[in-house]
Amino acid sequence: LILTQDDLKKIAAYKAVEFVESGMVLGLGTGSTAKHAIDRIGELLRQGKLSNIVGIPTSTKTHEQALALNIPLSDIDTHPVLDLAIDGADEVDPDMNLVKGRGGSLLREKMIEGCCKKFVVIVDESKLVNYIGGSGLAMPVEIVPFCWKFTAQKLQSLFEDSGCVAKLRISPENGKPYVTDNGNFIVDLYFKKDIGDLRAAGDAILRLAGVVEHGMFIDMATTLIVAGELGVTVRNK
Ligand code: A5P
Repeated sequence: LILTQDDLKKIAAYKAVEFVESGMVLGLGTGSTAKHAIDRIGELLRQGKLSNIVGIPTSTKTHEQALALNIPLSDIDTHPVLDLAIDGADEVDPDMNLVKGRGGSLLREKMIEGCCKKFVVIVDESKLVNYIGGSGLAMPVEIVPFCWKFTAQKLQSLFEDSGCVAKLRISPENGKPYVTDNGNFIVDLYFKKDIGDLRAAGDAILRLAGVVEHGMFIDMATTLIVAGELGVTVRNK
């Protein structure tokens, strides 16, 4: 039996849904892994195995998926404390720090997942890295559209020593700048070397006036579920 990457995502997602109990206020993540968890929650609600769930979606896409599954929805204005959130990640380092936002929805994810008692991250083993940026893939930063080149240049200069290249994300659908749920742009940062102290890096990014939020989720995950060829592991912080 050969498992595809999507099978592994599903295994991790289903494992996470075992932590969901009736009556919970739940953060619903975004992306191809979180999608499986939301499908599963919808299924358990339909079967009557779960009840009284309130879902807080982290993107318009997840909002639509959850609506279609009849999952009752709310927001953090109404429910500022969540019992549990389940979401995927693009990278996970050995301390359970994350990169998120490759799918484009980091700001709402960070606002919502910062409010939960338990944040369960679900990944297939390909997402594990030795250090943040170590996959060679992007670390996304959400910025305001106004003079985006200026902000992109400032971001690149911040990490000059790590060989940073900053690129505006372009939507493959229309060739125009990708626009987030919040009407902003995304600059993807590519690093050639480890950027070192993540908190210092994050703070420096947030000090730039055109920046809205960055995709490093530092010390936020409380549980990590990894699905691999040899099985699924659950690790608590
Ligand atoms: C959404 O923008 C992201 O933060 C996703 O949660 C993350 O990219 C993981 O997505 P996949 O599960 O599709 O890899």
